[in-house]
Amino acid sequence: MSTDAPVGHIGNEHHFPTHFTESGGIDFSGDQTTALTEVHLEEMRSIAARYPQPRSALLPMLHLVQSVEGRVTPAGVEACADVLGISAAEVSGVATFYTMYKRKPVGRHHVGVCTTALCAILGGDEVLAALQQHLGVGNDETTADGTITLEHIECNAACDYAPVMMVNWEFFDDVTPGSAVEVVDALREGREVVSSRGARISSWREAERVLAGFPDGRADEGPTAGEKSLLGLRIANERGWSAPDPRTAEAEPVEGPAASEAEAVGTGQPDGGRRGAAEKSSEDAEAAASGDQGTTESTRTSTDEGEAK
Ligand code: FES
Repeated sequence: MSTDAPVGHIGNEHHFPTHFTESGGIDFSGDQTTALTEVHLEEMRSIAARYPQPRSALLPMLHLVQSVEGRVTPAGVEACADVLGISAAEVSGVATFYTMYKRKPVGRHHVGVCTTALCAILGGDEVLAALQQHLGVGNDETTADGTITLEHIECNAACDYAPVMMVNWEFFDDVTPGSAVEVVDALREGREVVSSRGARISSWREAERVLAGFPDGRADEGPTAGEKSLLGLRIANERGWSAPDPRTAEAEPVEGPAASEAEAVGTGQPDGGRRGAAEKSSEDAEAAASGDQGTTESTRTSTDEGEAK
């Protein structure tokens, strides 16, 4: 395992580990050989033709470059710039801004472990540490056999299944250090691996081609959303709840001192049967003062919602 990422240094006290082990831009000085062919350039043109403004195609085009080259190469940057009629600096600026674009070669599989707050609290840090130990690599490094690139990643909007691990951008939910190690072992041995949500795992490059806009015909494998993600919607359907119509709904008054102040100046308005939070807050305060707790509408509502959960 290599040492940690380079460290930025200001003054004598502050050290800032950077996310990227190579913190600079794309290196245009090294090997310029490329696997990109005229076929790929034509595919880039077909992507650009999908958009009213061709430069809007840059993001999927960079995914196409990665699907061919295994990373964003100088040749890939030049190709995108040439097709779109923009400068290499503009392409490079985009490619070095987003973390899904890689400046170092990625292995056959990209494994990302979420270490943002909720996943970290529920075990994401332990999962990442276990994989680093098991694979013998640090963050953003690839195993010697080229099969796994390991990276800690930010929230993937799957917090209801924390801690979450991604393999080639497919979800593995509620992972543990043990289950994560089993997954990477199966990937390294070339066994079939299926994500928690049903999709069979292909390679990172194949996934990148899908992100470029060339479907692999497997979009419908597995459910599109898990049960936990749909729970709130199911409860709302059972109880007949719906979101207020944004064209007619009034802004919900703020609770607390600001609401009291609004009432004091007479800005509270009837809301078609719904009572404002300020009114309920005021009644709750009166009920609490009189010892009559648990009888206000807002208290009953809270209890109902608690049972629903
Ligand atoms: S914090 Fe990990 S998916 Fe949101």
